Amino acid sequence: MQARDMSQRRRGAAAALLALVVLLGSTSPPNAAAQPSSWSPLVARVNKDASTSLYTIAIKDGGVPLLLLDLAGPMIWIANCPCRHRAIECGSNDCLGISNMFAPDICAGAEWPVQVQGRCICTAMPYNPVDGRCVAAQATTISVAANATDGRNPLFPVSFPVVGSCAPGELLASLPAGVAGVAGLARLPNSLPLQVANWFRLKQEFALCLPRGGDGVAIFGGGPFQLLAAPTVEELADNLRKNPLPFLFNPKNRAYYFTITGIAVNQQRVPTPSGAFGMDWRGQGGAAFSTVTPYTALRWDIYWPLRNAFDAATSGIARADKVAPFDMCYQASELTMTRVGYAVASIDLMLDGGQNWTLPGASSLVQVNDQTVCFAFVQTAASSAPAHAESPAVILGGHQLEDNLLLFDLDKDTFAFSGLLLGIGTTCSNFDFSMGSS
Ligand SMILES: *[C@@H]1O[C@H](CO)[C@@H](O)[C@H](O)[C@H]1NC(C)=O
Ligand SMILES: *[C@@H]1O[C@H](CO)[C@@H](O)[C@H](O)[C@H]1NC(C)=O
Repeated sequence: MQARDMSQRRRGAAAALLALVVLLGSTSPPNAAAQPSSWSPLVARVNKDASTSLYTIAIKDGGVPLLLLDLAGPMIWIANCPCRHRAIECGSNDCLGISNMFAPDICAGAEWPVQVQGRCICTAMPYNPVDGRCVAAQATTISVAANATDGRNPLFPVSFPVVGSCAPGELLASLPAGVAGVAGLARLPNSLPLQVANWFRLKQEFALCLPRGGDGVAIFGGGPFQLLAAPTVEELADNLRKNPLPFLFNPKNRAYYFTITGIAVNQQRVPTPSGAFGMDWRGQGGAAFSTVTPYTALRWDIYWPLRNAFDAATSGIARADKVAPFDMCYQASELTMTRVGYAVASIDLMLDGGQNWTLPGASSLVQVNDQTVCFAFVQTAASSAPAHAESPAVILGGHQLEDNLLLFDLDKDTFAFSGLLLGIGTTCSNFDFSMGSS
């Protein structure tokens, strides 16, 4: 632990120097003189890949900028490193930070890479969260690029190195076409948010707003968060920070787990077995966020009571043939639209301290074709979610997270959420990506 602290402090000092170099080297950033000691948070675009329903983040410097966004991923990796990449030596401070300790169990069988003659190269375990494959590969430094931001616009570009891993090109299979690797955002020192925070001496926080279409947004390093809307939506982040909820620790990984105490449909509590939402000592159960699970997945003993309650609460709406992977579908023509999606019974995820995460029609249903709208939840299958080998009881997935502002505080180990932004007349695609000048 001490070695890691040292390496972070040293990296901090180097960071200040490099930051200055980047600043001087870039095309005259506004306010450069006023800013040398306090860095702005960074902003990056987040997009949804239509064919896989997975999310990408534009963050890599040079060549293909897109990486798969994996909220639960431990680190950053890119496939097909350039031949002359800077491999990290065994025993170096950067190597100590490569946290294979939380690599998924499946990585234990990964094949060891060929070592370069006469040198010991630090080994990392890049992992594909969609198909669950893992390999052993060389740790390296990867150049990352983003814009500084005031929470309202991008201001000026910055780039900086992070510690990550190379991977063979085959590890990209099953990821969206056009991505170069994976950006992991978990609570581990080598994840993207913590490396940004350490390098630029920013808050260990990030904001994530997943889009249904268009450009969504991620902001690393804290600060305000503003979306375009009419009427104007005031700065959102500060208010949300007043109602934080604690993360739950899983002994097996550092993904984002939280506590659900119950589920309600139309304010009626759904009868789930007692203890259904709890996590056991092995890390099985509990609720977790996932950006690589397109639709919220529930263990069967929670899925069926919820599905049956929703079935009863929507019994007046004509059904349509089921469309996989969904189990209950409606005729689109029978549903009316409101500001927050289809007019149906709302679902409350009841959280710690009496807060509810309410899922209105836009979050609970999904249109699958011209005639059909389906109940947008699935059952967890033992093998369906390799990203969560620990099998949470509830995996809160992409469709239900979209158009919500999520704030993650890795220093306080808390999160906050806005609820569906459509309710206040905006969406995650309303960040103003035109260059600003504050
Ligand atoms: C910075 O923002 C501008 C304007 O949105 C964009 O064109 C550019 O690609 C961004 N640069 C980086 C490195 O993200
Ligand atoms: C949360 O949801 C439950 C069930 O619908 C309801 O009884 C309770 O009043 C809600 N709490 C708040 C603070 O809205």
